[in-house]
Amino acid sequence: MHDPLMATYKRLPVTFVRGEGAWLWDTDGRRYLDALSGIAVCGLGHAHPAVREALCEQAGLLIHTSNLYQIAEQQALGEVLTAYSGMDRVFFANSGAEANEAAIKLARLHAHRKGVKEPGILVMEGSFHGRTLATLSATGNRKVQAGFEPLVQGFVRVPYDDMAAVETAAANRQNIAAILVEPIQGEGGINIPAAGYLPRLRALCDAHGWLLMLDEIQTGMGRTGLPFAHQHSGIQPDVMTLAKGLANGVPIGACLARGAAADVFGPGNHGSTFGGNPLACRAARTVIETLTREGLAGRAAAMGEYLLEGFRRRLEGRPEVVDIRGRGLMLGIELDRPCADLVPQGLAAGLLINVTAERVIRLLPPLILDEAQAELLLDGVADLVGTFLAGAAH
Ligand SMILES: Cc1ncc(COP(=O)(O)O)c(C=O)c1O
Repeated sequence: MHDPLMATYKRLPVTFVRGEGAWLWDTDGRRYLDALSGIAVCGLGHAHPAVREALCEQAGLLIHTSNLYQIAEQQALGEVLTAYSGMDRVFFANSGAEANEAAIKLARLHAHRKGVKEPGILVMEGSFHGRTLATLSATGNRKVQAGFEPLVQGFVRVPYDDMAAVETAAANRQNIAAILVEPIQGEGGINIPAAGYLPRLRALCDAHGWLLMLDEIQTGMGRTGLPFAHQHSGIQPDVMTLAKGLANGVPIGACLARGAAADVFGPGNHGSTFGGNPLACRAARTVIETLTREGLAGRAAAMGEYLLEGFRRRLEGRPEVVDIRGRGLMLGIELDRPCADLVPQGLAAGLLINVTAERVIRLLPPLILDEAQAELLLDGVADLVGTFLAGAAH
């Protein structure tokens, strides 16, 4: 049969038609516990009443005008988001990749204005920054790049969580303008760097006049137990990118900047037809207000600890489980073997989970997950892992 969709995704054989909180229902009326939230997107859960009401009202008022005009909802979101993040200014795009494109352009323009001719951006092995040409070039995963050469130039890659490598690059390269780094690598396997890593990157950037650009597209919006993951280290970035959880599923991306970086772009330097339109901005403003009102970042911190502890208890003594790690509701269970089969097995058991970096079970449940759902998740994943490992042994 002719498939009208390009074959870019290997999709699981299920179609969801409805959601509520942490639950999804398929076309047969079967219920699933969503421990992935559309990959860290629906932090407030599905069909959150505040988001639904805001979207319905906004759709009846105005969905789109153009950035040729003042957009009150964009201005309002800008105020709320800069206050929430401690950043000075924001550019709105439509996705994570686009938010990172804006950051890359901003870093280059900033460097050119300072007389750096061919500015380089330091990026990390194992990183993921998106699928556009510049962002896949920045991404530290050859699979994402293969076949799309020539890649965009100007990225200098070093291992993640390796200060010595960054310092060597700093000593050997004159033209570095910025570091682009995830505070916790998501697609790379829930890799949490050493406690001093971000503060040391911050100090190095300050010493060299580089911009510290944090990709918080997966880690942001309360996911790790604080509004933004870098807040666990007490530092502030010069540039931060957001998308995924920002509007609970309405496409939006944001490139925020602070200090001198906030004044780099002028008229004509960057733009987007849809970026920051009234509908998306209204959704994002509602998300931030709801996160704050319901204390969902703190809830994610507590629930994350509970899940980590629960998984450790349930999976302890299994030598095939290499590590159980996480921060807030961004959790990884690393096995000693590829385990992508757990995803369809989870689906069959009514549980939506993900496997990344081949061996890491990734859990990104909605921040509204309740205690009973947490228990289901703990038991469900522990059973899946037990059955998977028992099957592999035969
Ligand atoms: C850290 C990070 N950066 C960027 C992106 C790209 O975002 P998008 O798919 O919205 O372009 C992702 C998506 O997985 C991500 O996890």
